[in-house]
Amino acid sequence: MLTAYTARMAELLDRHCDVLLVGDSLAQTIYGLPTTLPVTLDMMIAHGAAVVRGSRRCLVVVDMPFGSYEESPQQAFRSAASLLRETGAGAVKLEGGVEMAETVAFLRSRGIPVMAHVGLTPQAVNVLGGYAARGRGDADYTKIFDDAVAVAQAGAFAVVIEGVVEPLALSIIEAIECPTIGIGASAKCDGQVLVVDDMLGMFDRTARFVKSFDSLGARIDAAAEAYAASVRERRFPEQQHLYQPPSK
Ligand code: KIV
Repeated sequence: MLTAYTARMAELLDRHCDVLLVGDSLAQTIYGLPTTLPVTLDMMIAHGAAVVRGSRRCLVVVDMPFGSYEESPQQAFRSAASLLRETGAGAVKLEGGVEMAETVAFLRSRGIPVMAHVGLTPQAVNVLGGYAARGRGDADYTKIFDDAVAVAQAGAFAVVIEGVVEPLALSIIEAIECPTIGIGASAKCDGQVLVVDDMLGMFDRTARFVKSFDSLGARIDAAAEAYAASVRERRFPEQQHLYQPPSK
């Protein structure tokens, strides 16, 4: 699983992935926002629809943005229904554990497949106090374990485990039956997810759990430098890029 936010990126990733996640990480990757909190349902709908247009075989999962589902199962149903209806995606993802289990069950029983997300949950950054790895203390370890079990028992079809100490990820994998998707968790999870921009090396600074498989940021910088030099030195456009009147 990788994130995707645009139709062209979805086209490129589609044959390599099983799942494309339209993550609310688009806050940072697309919009330059400091956190995921300002993301709206309309933003997720616009990018979700683009990704569905670009993909042929992947399951497309759209993140439920902060404030669109936490109030009640009914609010979550209205938001999730509009995400699926207006994007054509196959499932939604929401953050949270024990406190969201009722909502997961409510959505699932009304035809909405839910991927859950436990551990380091970025929408809770103001409560967690940052993006540090979780599960280091006994109470935190037990809470996250209970969260994963609760959402799995409530009917989540998969659980993303983010930014936790590996022994905790291993005990969750052991305890729940649905597939686990790791990000900073363990290679033993059933699947892995990364933010596509991180995987491609678009940013200079990333979390410890990111592996960049390319350095696209540096390559874009070099390409833009070459383009600007060609324009300033009037080496571009060349003959083959120009239109001429029909020959008489
Ligand atoms: O928003 C996102 O991209 C995510 C993944 C990192 C799991 O939730």
